[in-house]
Amino acid sequence: MRKPTAYWEYIKIEELLSLQGGLEADDRKITNDEVMFITIHQIEELWLKLALRELESARNLFVQVPVPEVSLAAAVRGIHRMTELLKFAGDHFALMETLTTRDYLAFRDKLNPASGFQSAQLRELEILAGLPEEDRIPLGHEKSYMVMLRNHDGSASSASERVERRLEDTPTLRATIDEWLFRTPIQGSTPDRAGDAETVRAFIEAYSRAHAKSAEQALALALSSALNDGDRERLAARYQKEVASARSFLLAEELPEESRARRSRIRAALVFIESYRELPLLAWPRAVIDGLVAFEQAFVLFRQRHARMVERVIGRRTGTGGSAGVDYLDQTALRYRIFRDVWAVRTLLVQQSVLPPVEHEGFYSFAGPQE
Ligand code: HEM
Repeated sequence: MRKPTAYWEYIKIEELLSLQGGLEADDRKITNDEVMFITIHQIEELWLKLALRELESARNLFVQVPVPEVSLAAAVRGIHRMTELLKFAGDHFALMETLTTRDYLAFRDKLNPASGFQSAQLRELEILAGLPEEDRIPLGHEKSYMVMLRNHDGSASSASERVERRLEDTPTLRATIDEWLFRTPIQGSTPDRAGDAETVRAFIEAYSRAHAKSAEQALALALSSALNDGDRERLAARYQKEVASARSFLLAEELPEESRARRSRIRAALVFIESYRELPLLAWPRAVIDGLVAFEQAFVLFRQRHARMVERVIGRRTGTGGSAGVDYLDQTALRYRIFRDVWAVRTLLVQQSVLPPVEHEGFYSFAGPQE
């Protein structure tokens, strides 16, 4: 017969409680402040561990071609859990703020040059989600993040090995989402169908006209309350620019010719899913997109929350990892974006009343494609 399970054995309580001793390996020899500092970091790493597991599962679901409808439901739940985990992680910084600057300075030198910058799991999360490597902001002394993950003598560490493994763990979630979006039926047409390029182009042109109409209405409203000619000119120029950049974005004109058609179809698919939200077959795709926005928003807020906590505890001094500290952290919150197109389409969505009509509506019924 199986031995009855005890809580303390299953959760490994004694092992867990023996891990907060810091460099002294004994928490009775360090202050309450330092034990809290270590514990919060450990809790954060555990939340990151759980988020990574969900991220990996979601990526694995989206690798399938086609992605089964039931997988979409599971992916949405996983993405939602990742979002909640990042919110928890951000909330913990409030506890860190009970540490005064002087209290922290009492043990800060011990950490040097260790830093959260060496958190392998945060890098894994960024890598697996699909943060482009070229978007990374180097640390103050221009060393790449990989250098910082190695041991001091340059040899591989558990952290650098973990991240190296993750770099080979492709595709990223972003890449699988792009592939999935690329296959999305637009006006009932899929990429493997003859005439798909023309259907997509016609949709983009019709949508751009709807967008221009929506902008025209918004401009008329803005002009009615403008104070002077200068205001009126500025407003007209602003709306004209919005209209031009919406069409250019949908056609992916900023990209080299050879990658335009693919990116353009992905962006059109995003607009299509968001615009015809009530079509039954688009219900799960829409929930996926909403989930990704919530996830990335929680990620950005986590970065911002960390930066505000850091500013409160150490001001704007240089970080133990050698970065510009708060300035570096604020830059990451501002510039690191994974699902850029998902965010970008929000600028060009329009009210339902001006949308072009859906073609082949039956294609999107619960009974599935009927044509
Ligand atoms: C008093 C508490 C803390 C201070 C003063 C602090 C300060 C900093 C600073 C200045 C940096 C920039 C890199 C550097 O130069 O070191 C940094 C990075 C980082 N910290 Fe903290 N931190 C604190 C607590 C935490 C906690 C509890 C976590 C747990 C998640 C954390 C996670 C990170 C991560 C992941 C980075 C890298 C961010 C990136 O490169 O995008 N920090 N921290």
